[in-house]
Amino acid sequence: MFLAHSCFHAMVLVLITTVMAKENMCDLVGEEGSESLKEQTLLKKLEPLYNRRFETEIVSEDDYYIYQFRVCREVFSNMSNSGLVQIDKKNKKITVVGRINDTHLASGSKWIMLIYKGGEAYGTHCGNEERKAIVMINCNQKTLGDGFTMITEEREKLKECFYVFELESSLACPPEDSHLSIGSILLITFASLVAVYIIGGFLYQRLVVGAKGMEQFPHFVFWQDLGNLVADGCDFVCRSKPRNVPTAYRGVGDDQLGEESEERDDHLLPM
Ligand SMILES: *[C@@H]1O[C@H](CO)[C@@H](O)[C@H](O)[C@H]1NC(C)=O
Repeated sequence: MFLAHSCFHAMVLVLITTVMAKENMCDLVGEEGSESLKEQTLLKKLEPLYNRRFETEIVSEDDYYIYQFRVCREVFSNMSNSGLVQIDKKNKKITVVGRINDTHLASGSKWIMLIYKGGEAYGTHCGNEERKAIVMINCNQKTLGDGFTMITEEREKLKECFYVFELESSLACPPEDSHLSIGSILLITFASLVAVYIIGGFLYQRLVVGAKGMEQFPHFVFWQDLGNLVADGCDFVCRSKPRNVPTAYRGVGDDQLGEESEERDDHLLPM
């Protein structure tokens, strides 16, 4: 009987300590098990930002506010569930704008929207409703989390007012599709080989052979001949009517080309 009793006490003690040690976290709508899967996924996605702290200052003629924001963690542990707070630098007054135990999430292709509701109630505006913070997290591949700014405060409505903030993060970016298809890999390889061939050949012709002008291109005569050959082939295959070009002129042209080719071939041999 005594043993059972102390055992029960120990269990209660363990329960209390675990509850107390558990840091306040984001809480979505619904009990565990009935929360939205989409929101849970987004929450998990934002996990790398949990230990970060963001701050922005708004200075105007008669106001000096600092806004502090954390993802799923309390800004001030002595202010329960404070996810986004406003600090009035003039009178040191701290106002909770949104709480992490009232978190809502949505996303698009290049953004994640995080909403904290349940902030401190407005005094006179917005039907004395609770404040609410909307944080638009925009895709920026260059940073994990940066550029936290206050955009606006909407409090001219009779109800459903809100504060709008922006943050940049790579977590909001669409998954990168870096898988190149076989075709593009082959194409890139081929293009690189062609480039190496042209540049390497060019340097060889210029520096080793000492060629000038168009002859600096590697195997210039070969490609010229090939071009002519292809053109002839095309001419032969595609043309429906015989070409009426003065034969004499053509003959001279071909002869000259033939001679030239042989001359130029000589210094190409080493390559
Ligand atoms: C969130 O926490 C605050 C303060 O701890 C509490 O007053 C409020 O009822 C909680 N809201 C929800 C939705 O649990």
